[in-house]
Amino acid sequence: MTLTQYHNSLSLVALGELLNQHPQEKIENLLATFQCTKNPDLEEFLTTPNKAIQSEQRAITRTYLYLEVQNSTLVVVAYFTIAIRILYSEGLSKSLVKKLDGVDKNREAMPSYLIAQLGKSNTCKYKIGLNILDDAINKIRQSHQIVGGRFIILDAVNVPKVIEFYQTEPNAFVLLDKDTQKPNARMYYPLT
Ligand SMILES: CC(C)(COP(=O)(O)OP(=O)(O)OC[C@H]1O[C@@H](n2cnc3c(N)ncnc32)[C@H](O)[C@@H]1OP(=O)(O)O)[C@@H](O)C(=O)NCCC(=O)NCCS
Repeated sequence: MTLTQYHNSLSLVALGELLNQHPQEKIENLLATFQCTKNPDLEEFLTTPNKAIQSEQRAITRTYLYLEVQNSTLVVVAYFTIAIRILYSEGLSKSLVKKLDGVDKNREAMPSYLIAQLGKSNTCKYKIGLNILDDAINKIRQSHQIVGGRFIILDAVNVPKVIEFYQTEPNAFVLLDKDTQKPNARMYYPLT
């Protein structure tokens, strides 16, 4: 199976729709199938009931799941979570603030879309990362078409392979802070 065929074979479903249609306990059991040893935070957000589910129910985030049947069991093989977020301009250059804001180089806070979580499970053997990223951006573009907005931000795990992943064309994110030594590196993607 090619990468595209595999990606197309997965069901992409909204967590909110699942919660509307099934008892919460059943959804908690489904989310518990997601395992990610490379990024425990990613696993924890989905598998801890008071995180992804509560955040969905309070309309703070929207989570989308990739489902697949493995050994006769339905499992989550990947997911992404998106939200809206204020980006504060402290520490950013004036020229970058002007570019992000579109009007004012002195703007202190700017609305943006956020990719809050994104990743695949240990059991996913296909290199579908860029497909997931593409889906997340396209989901945000639906909102962008209706309400506008100028850019997407995310906090990438600050290791070279993850930064390179987000910098890959055609949906290349750009580092907001150059040479940061923090565990997470802020990145943005212009929607305009
Ligand atoms: C990031 C990700 C979506 C990329 O998926 P992909 O394009 O299908 O590619 P891969 O999974 O093969 O990852 C590419 C490389 O990055 C490395 N990598 C990915 N996430 C990593 C992490 N959190 N820490 C360290 N290395 C990581 C992989 O080991 C791989 O290295 P290799 O080329 O030596 O095998 C996927 O690796 C993933 O889900 N990672 C774990 C979750 C994560 O960290 N998400 C990013 C949050 S900002």
